[in-house]
Amino acid sequence: MSKKATLEVNGKKVEFPVVTGTEKEVAIDIKTLRSATGGIITLDSGFKNTGACESAITFLDGEKGILRYRGYSIEELAEKAHFLEVVYLLIFGDLPTQEQLDKFDSDIKENCIVDDDVKKILDAFPRSAHPMGVLSSLTSALTAFYPSSVDITSEEDMYNSIVHILGKFPVLVAWTMRKKQGLPLDYGDEELGYVENVMKMMFHLPNKKYVQNQVLVEALDKLLILHAEHEQNCSTSTVRIVGSSRAGLFASLASGISALWGPLHGGANQAVLEMLEAIKADGGDTKKYMAKAKDKNDPFRLMGFGHRVYKNFDPRAKIIKVAADEVLEDLGIEDPVLDIAKGLEQEALKDPYFVERKLYPNVDFYSGVIYRALGLPVEMFTVMFALGRLPGWIAQWKEMRLNKEPIGRPRQLYTGKTYREFVKIKKRGE
Ligand code: ACO
Repeated sequence: MSKKATLEVNGKKVEFPVVTGTEKEVAIDIKTLRSATGGIITLDSGFKNTGACESAITFLDGEKGILRYRGYSIEELAEKAHFLEVVYLLIFGDLPTQEQLDKFDSDIKENCIVDDDVKKILDAFPRSAHPMGVLSSLTSALTAFYPSSVDITSEEDMYNSIVHILGKFPVLVAWTMRKKQGLPLDYGDEELGYVENVMKMMFHLPNKKYVQNQVLVEALDKLLILHAEHEQNCSTSTVRIVGSSRAGLFASLASGISALWGPLHGGANQAVLEMLEAIKADGGDTKKYMAKAKDKNDPFRLMGFGHRVYKNFDPRAKIIKVAADEVLEDLGIEDPVLDIAKGLEQEALKDPYFVERKLYPNVDFYSGVIYRALGLPVEMFTVMFALGRLPGWIAQWKEMRLNKEPIGRPRQLYTGKTYREFVKIKKRGE
């Protein structure tokens, strides 16, 4: 028997269906709220209680610290799968057979060439430009070079757009960094796997043979898997809402990149490392920064801590913390900021301020330590997050289009002036 929720408003009782997801999550379906109540809406700033869609991609239980892509646990995927398999899983719903994976890989490689004129756009940016701004602009610009990706009328069109962007995006990622470093812009090697190719495109030097370091390849593969998808977060919701207007995939992704850039979202990984460096430069006094984070008159926040959904622990942070230790050990690197990070975590875990507010390290707290070990400049950290999140954004965009979701258009409660008569300019201020 289907359940109902009853709302009493203005002396009238209205019933709404209660819907249950496959993991027994419950939602009140308020589609008929306005029509049944004469125009009343819900108010939920920051969407803390609002489900924007039904989705079959990611299951997340923030209380229990569970994260699953298409039913598979993040722990198992990070340990046993490769990034490209996870990309396929997220976008198409199941892990690929070897044959499916080979075809997917080859279709992506076929589409990796970026029109050479894109380099002219890149040239126009100052060297000082933040790579996230550059990446967002270049991704959007791809629409002009490949206009067929906009008007998607069949699943074949959709597939073509997807393999185009999966091929070209790593090239743009590498170019944003190489441009900043004054290195030549070119391509990787189609003989290489997806992640190895990313490493080569980013780090090879024109006068040296590039030798892959398997520890680094595996570390990046794992990081990309851990960042690949996270249901309706700020950037993903942005991609879905922009895509809902039928803007093309590349334009939708470009807006997702901009949303990810912010320090409260993906930009936190850069902010964490800058914070840890500042603490180190200030003598390593973690207690001082803990006090600042708790002081409501101080805007400082402990970056990499807290999460809108995880109120227990972030399972990705647990895996990344172990990976950071392993990578530094394998590479024989001692990074004092890792010790500072661990010290902060220890203090926060027993501090009532953090305990009461259920603030734990999130995915960004330890990832920067690994990115740095890979040899990436701090400004590239969020770009690497975008590279990882790309398949999640694509999967969510595809789902939104296939489900034929209506254009996203929230309502508001107006709190401005009521009607006023227009005053001519000479009379204003009287
Ligand atoms: N340091 C200090 N206090 C914090 C922190 C923090 N990092 N995070 C939250 N709080 C406090 C808030 O001040 C607030 O306290 P109050 O109840 O006394 O007012 C309480 O905890 C709840 O915080 P909100 O900001 O209301 O929680 P919200 O769910 O809106 O924000 C967010 C979540 C944005 C992640 C927040 O925890 C934050 O700013 N963290 C630091 C930035 C960060 O690491 N972002 C990356 C998130 S993961 C990702 O997007 C990939």
